[in-house]
Amino acid sequence: MKNNSKWNFDTNAIRAGEHRDPATGAHNTPIYQTATFSFETSEELTDAFVNFGNPDCPNLYTREGNPTIDVLQEKMAILQGTESSLAMASGMATVAASIRLCAKAGDHVIVTDKIFVVSRSFFLDECPAMGIEVSFVDMLDLDKVRDAIQPNTKALFAETITNPQMCVVDLTGLKKIASDNHLSFIVDNTYLGPYLLQPIEFGADLILDSATKYLSGHGDAVGGVLCGSQKLMSEARATMSSFGQCISPFNAWLILRGIRTLPLRMRQHSKNALALAKMLKNHDKVDWVRYAGTPESNQTELIEKQFPQGCGGMLSFNIKGEPGNLHRFMNALEMVDIATSLGDVYTLAAARVDYGLIRVSVGCEDEKDILADFSQALETIEV
Ligand SMILES: Cc1ncc(COP(=O)(O)O)c(C=O)c1O
Repeated sequence: MKNNSKWNFDTNAIRAGEHRDPATGAHNTPIYQTATFSFETSEELTDAFVNFGNPDCPNLYTREGNPTIDVLQEKMAILQGTESSLAMASGMATVAASIRLCAKAGDHVIVTDKIFVVSRSFFLDECPAMGIEVSFVDMLDLDKVRDAIQPNTKALFAETITNPQMCVVDLTGLKKIASDNHLSFIVDNTYLGPYLLQPIEFGADLILDSATKYLSGHGDAVGGVLCGSQKLMSEARATMSSFGQCISPFNAWLILRGIRTLPLRMRQHSKNALALAKMLKNHDKVDWVRYAGTPESNQTELIEKQFPQGCGGMLSFNIKGEPGNLHRFMNALEMVDIATSLGDVYTLAAARVDYGLIRVSVGCEDEKDILADFSQALETIEV
């Protein structure tokens, strides 16, 4: 695991970036809930304007930077093993920022065809509006990725585990194609987070996480974090300010608090999801189950190499019989919540009738209670 601190991951999740508050001595990082920062003299404010953008520029205005947000960014850069990071208003802000960094009007990007639905809308609608051409490609087939490269191609955009089909892409294979063709390699790591996968180890140039999910972990904040080189993050910071995509200090603080328990939660998510996947696989009313920890096929070696610490909490499955069984099953759940989103300590499930599946974000409750709820709901279904 890549580490640019003296501590191990579990310690970094708690301590990296954190320090005694210099203003008050507060032990826990305070929420600096302020829009602007004031100065003793008019000359100091003028100096701040002149030095704006330099790393040693004092805090000026929260859209540009804030001490609570700084701590989150320092921690995330250490956890992802990158030089720098930028916290933003949502995961979607980081998707947009990653493309803004790599492509301009007249360029072309290659995107996984199995992708989160709002990211799909961004690539389908917003990129062409900015003059950026997009090809959606099955990234499970590396030959198709190579064939899609054009003279104006600038980037490959992949999800580590695709939402909601749960396909696992070969990061080493994609990086080789990116390097051979001088393309930026962008990885959306939302489904795993940095404890289970550091895409920098596989050569990613830009890594993004919807912090709304596993990083925050408690379903109480919306945010995103983009990680990469110092140079790319300074460029992204300037763009973020112009587009006004900054995170609020309170959301940054909630995400910071969530990250301190990220390793504990990811171990529990992975353990519970593995148990549920195994139970569903053996259930006679279940048609199929997709979970990276119980691979069907030739992907076992790839998955062991990419996710040695566990495969996280996301799985999907289908129920035998008529399509209406998806809603019948969902309505029979007693404990598990019917909700979109993922990475929460609560187990959440959503029927995706358009994909013919139920997507489950397995939470951190007791494994026995999760399995019991799925079993009793399945019992109510006739196939
Ligand atoms: C894989 C993936 N990427 C990005 C996002 C966008 O994140 P946010 O909802 O924080 O904008 C999501 C949201 O579900 C997601 O699942």
